[in-house]
Amino acid sequence: MDIDILSLFPEYFETPFACSMIKRAREKGLLNIRCIDIRDFAEDRHQTVDDRPYGGGPGMVMKPEPTVKAIRSVRRSDSHVIYLSPQGGVFKARLAEEFAKKHTHIILICGHYEGIDQRIIDSEVDEEISIGDYVLTSGAPAAIVFVDAVSRFIPGVIGHPEGPYKDSFHGSETFEGPQYTRPFEFDGKKVPEVLVNGNHKEIEKWRSTQGREKLEALRHRVGENNEKSIS
Ligand SMILES: C[S@@+](CC[C@H](N)C(=O)[O-])C[C@H]1O[C@@H](n2cnc3c(N)ncnc32)[C@H](O)[C@@H]1O
Repeated sequence: MDIDILSLFPEYFETPFACSMIKRAREKGLLNIRCIDIRDFAEDRHQTVDDRPYGGGPGMVMKPEPTVKAIRSVRRSDSHVIYLSPQGGVFKARLAEEFAKKHTHIILICGHYEGIDQRIIDSEVDEEISIGDYVLTSGAPAAIVFVDAVSRFIPGVIGHPEGPYKDSFHGSETFEGPQYTRPFEFDGKKVPEVLVNGNHKEIEKWRSTQGREKLEALRHRVGENNEKSIS
């Protein structure tokens, strides 16, 4: 998969995409990430990328010309253009899987300041995605979350091909059960017997019950999940 990230701070991505699984995925050619500086597409000698909002209000807005030029410089016939925005549909595991399977080229637009001129969204963007109902200073951290979650569903990125499908939110759409490793006893607490009896059916059942109960208790504690979501 090819991902082009357009932002005002390409240096933001240097470390997150240069370690661990994303690094290996890039080395193997499974994931090609380019970080593009929108400022390079500014037209004046001061490289202006923002201006005051029409109608008044605090902060600045990203001007349409540099961002649209940046998008068009990387756009291909198979591109899917996403604006990372708190006003988008909330990103879920199901969507991460869908993006990995459906798209070969994703362009991520990271906003800054008060956001981007609406005309960029109207003319260039296929969909807006939010990583949660809160406001970040820029789309850059959201892009890192997006790339990380999507890349787990690209075959070959995770060592165990079935790994992402066994994690929380997949299959039964609950949490994965609790995990234990050696030692068998730590601080007076033993590993649950069911995990050492070798009965894999029982282990599966125990894990899914534990995951479901934890999820239900959490949802109950924080109030019913009424986030906006994309169908
Ligand atoms: C300070 S925010 C702008 C918020 C905007 N004024 C609003 O109230 O909707 C700056 C940029 O951060 C990014 N951003 C902020 N929160 C986000 C979220 N929850 N998910 C994805 N991107 C987000 C967007 O790219 C946005 O343009």
